[in-house]
Amino acid sequence: MVPWFSFLALAAVAHGQGRGGGGSAMLRFGCSNIVIDRVDPLVTPGQVPSPHVHQIVGGNAFNASMPADTDISKLATCTSCTFTEDLSNYWTASVYFKARNGSYKRVPQMPNDAIGAANGGVTVYYTASGKGQSTAFKPGFRMFSGDANRRVSTGLGRNTQSCFRCYTGPNFQGNVQSPCFDPKLDTEGFPATPCPGGIRSSVIFPVCWDGKNLDTPNHIDHVAHPVGGPASFAVTNGKCPSSHPVKIPQVHLEIVWDTSKFNNKADWPADGSQPLVLSNGDNLGYSQHGDYVFGWQGDSLQRAMDNGCFAASCAAANLKTQAFPAANKCVVQKAVHEDHDGWVKQLPGTEMANMPMA
Ligand SMILES: *[C@@H]1O[C@H](CO)[C@@H](O)[C@H](O)[C@H]1NC(C)=O
Ligand SMILES: *[C@@H]1O[C@H](CO)[C@@H](O)[C@H](O)[C@H]1NC(C)=O
Repeated sequence: MVPWFSFLALAAVAHGQGRGGGGSAMLRFGCSNIVIDRVDPLVTPGQVPSPHVHQIVGGNAFNASMPADTDISKLATCTSCTFTEDLSNYWTASVYFKARNGSYKRVPQMPNDAIGAANGGVTVYYTASGKGQSTAFKPGFRMFSGDANRRVSTGLGRNTQSCFRCYTGPNFQGNVQSPCFDPKLDTEGFPATPCPGGIRSSVIFPVCWDGKNLDTPNHIDHVAHPVGGPASFAVTNGKCPSSHPVKIPQVHLEIVWDTSKFNNKADWPADGSQPLVLSNGDNLGYSQHGDYVFGWQGDSLQRAMDNGCFAASCAAANLKTQAFPAANKCVVQKAVHEDHDGWVKQLPGTEMANMPMA
């Protein structure tokens, strides 16, 4: 197995952002699921059930109507992340398998490469170029990455903000290049053929902020990409546009799907097409998206970005951590009581009339 950080070194060298010398920072840590549920406080606040299933991680202030303009680090009393000062929430769409007979089953998650005994969950990265180079988010900050209505490729290659990695065998075989960098194993849509070692989703968020709005109606307009276009994974030195002059850390989420039970071609569609579908009904995968509500306590994230913190602990910024047995105890009760584990005839939500497409 290639150590997970070897590809980061490659990425850093490729972009002249050598770690250490420039003091660049990259947190990489796990957050377990706090709940799998059909709620979305950003896109459809207060709506129970929301249109599609998500897995949600982070602090326990999460609920369907968690208030905007609020410091959730003061409302939450625990987090499922291993950095205990991170009471943020992160969520993405779930992935389902559609069998040849038309029934669906949610694809189980598995812990990421070298992340520990997470309960499913999401691996979170925050990357910054060095001391004073990025401004941490403010309490109440929220944003969205992706487009739940997209059904075509962006054509951005390794600069895409969403991709899937197809592991070639157990123990994350094929995990060599940076996320979305591998021309063969990374695809913007779902992989076309079975992935023997499972599939990893990546969602990257914009790195520039208008410096004023904690949120905007579409949860996107207060943030922007650098003038040269969307930044690839771990590239944080792009120039921000004058409309969005404040550089923020690059947030990147990874979710790993254990597809091993669904690789039998006899269960795949008879026409040979791939059988995975995002919980919002997209069987192409281009609409993969992520939601973020900032909730680090005090200046803990800023200290991490300014002190060259790397991976899942940081003595230099005095960040506090917990192990997964403790993190896994932080959970939130389901708002919608439906089965997310058995075979179902329809994707949860698709039976709803006038289903909002987000
Ligand atoms: C959601 O959380 C907020 C803040 O903790 C609380 O005021 C509100 O009542 C909660 N809503 C629900 C539906 O639980
Ligand atoms: C549909 O196919 C799957 C996979 O072969 C099987 O496990 C499931 O029981 C089937 N469901 C129905 C309703 O036949």
